Amino acid sequence: MTAVDASQVSFSAERAAVDAALATFAQTYLCSIVGPVAEAVSYSMLGEGKRLRAILLLTAYRAAGGTGDASPLAAAVEVVHAYSLVHDDLPCMDDDDMRRGRPTVHRAFGVASATAAGLAMVPLAARAATDAARALGLDDEHTGEIVRELMRASGAGGMIGGQLLDLEGEGAPLTLLELERVHRMKTGALINASVRIGGLAALANEGILTAFARYGSAVGLAFQIADDVLDVTSTTDELGKTAGRDAELNKSTYPALLGLAGARDRADKLCDDACVALREAGISSPQLEALARFVVDRRS
Ligand code: IPE
Ligand code: IPE
Ligand code: MG
Ligand code: MG
Ligand code: MG
Repeated sequence: MTAVDASQVSFSAERAAVDAALATFAQTYLCSIVGPVAEAVSYSMLGEGKRLRAILLLTAYRAAGGTGDASPLAAAVEVVHAYSLVHDDLPCMDDDDMRRGRPTVHRAFGVASATAAGLAMVPLAARAATDAARALGLDDEHTGEIVRELMRASGAGGMIGGQLLDLEGEGAPLTLLELERVHRMKTGALINASVRIGGLAALANEGILTAFARYGSAVGLAFQIADDVLDVTSTTDELGKTAGRDAELNKSTYPALLGLAGARDRADKLCDDACVALREAGISSPQLEALARFVVDRRS
């Protein structure tokens, strides 16, 4: 899978910096565990994803005037995301065999190791985010706020809560309003937090943070709508994960509720809303706007 490349705005430098930080985490934080669980954590963390959440964080950080190297902080968010994929693929959840173009973690290391690896990645991410925020020169208050934001987005009121609702919804068709809530929680919350953490790390003012929250919330929902669309329209080869899985699992999805054209239209409008939120706050960031477009136009 290639790095995010949105409308000729290339993010390959950010991608390389985040990958380097993830490789450093594998060296720094995994020395206390050994065997298949440590190998499973590395396998998951270093797998070839788009690094979209990290790139959003870094781009928001720059747009808010940050000048340091926030790539380790961005990589910490990717650890939470990678963990969510490990557990999402488990037999008790979406029961998937392929992720990021290769066998899922439980296929490669077994269910017990994959489950433990996912659990180990949460405190690893919290520790990495704390160290990264301090390395950026942030004080305890801002460091705490950043780690809280990350953990809140990952927890029962965000990703985990959304994943549980997603499972409950299998076979019991959700209304559009219910599905929007699931998508905002299971996927939108972490994407929204990535953008806001970029702002928090740059010590952005309330006006910018509020605009980032509006942008992040629109982009986060648009991202999961596009994921639902790609599950129908793309191939396993292109996606690096099993296409058509949502229908097999009887998931409620945007294309199922609105049709493909309706789902695409909703994602497009959210992308426009995200850009309007930035402009209304006087934030000029062609890069953040290009990322919003990438989220809805991507092919994988
Ligand atoms: C997949 O996220 C899981 C969802 C939240 C839909 P990505 O499409 O960002 O996965 P990677 O990181 O690129 O593999
Ligand atoms: C997953 O949504 C959301 C997560 C929090 C991981 P999906 O189940 O649709 O993600 P994919 O399609 O398997 O990547
Ligand atoms: Mg799922
Ligand atoms: Mg899944
Ligand atoms: Mg999906």
